[in-house]
Amino acid sequence: LPATFACLVFGYLLGSIPFGLILTRMAGLGDVRKIGSGNIGATNVLRTGNKKLAAATLLLDALKGTAAAAIASRWGIEAGLAAGLAAFLGHLYPVWLSFKGGKGVATYIGVLLGLAPVMVLVFGAIWLAMAKITRYSSLSALTATALVPVALYATGYGKVALLFAIMTVITWIKHRANIQRLLSGTESRIGEKG
Ligand code: G3P
Repeated sequence: LPATFACLVFGYLLGSIPFGLILTRMAGLGDVRKIGSGNIGATNVLRTGNKKLAAATLLLDALKGTAAAAIASRWGIEAGLAAGLAAFLGHLYPVWLSFKGGKGVATYIGVLLGLAPVMVLVFGAIWLAMAKITRYSSLSALTATALVPVALYATGYGKVALLFAIMTVITWIKHRANIQRLLSGTESRIGEKG
């Protein structure tokens, strides 16, 4: 039990590092929360016009989830799942930002990379196809996160599938403003200043 608790704390702390905010500040671009959707994630960092910074945000927000899940997995699969979920929640609800964090997509992918790496290809294929067709980052992520738990379950990843089903529900809840904008036709497309 102390090991599981340590994994939860470790995962949360790692996940709560807001790379989008840190990188845009370091680059002198101001507060990313004041532009576009106000989110701290890679999609909104792209609205600063800096593609490299957006890519770095995506990578680092993902890898913190990967690191949490992969490192904690040394103490067993349950520890890996717990740390992965904690990292995801840390990204969404960072204590440093009064619990106002990101929407979770990059960290979701990162945890997936740590626990079921092949599924990242499934996520990526769905995301890219949807992004090519619609140019909506949010809709692409909503579609990919809806299908990943199903794909995990179908390929025998029982517990991991359950974890991702939970993370998908939370991701969708965090995207409720995006969903409203998608329904009303006012969601900004990838790269648009929005
Ligand atoms: O899934 C992408 C999502 O995070 C959208 O970000 O900034 O358009 O709300 P944003």
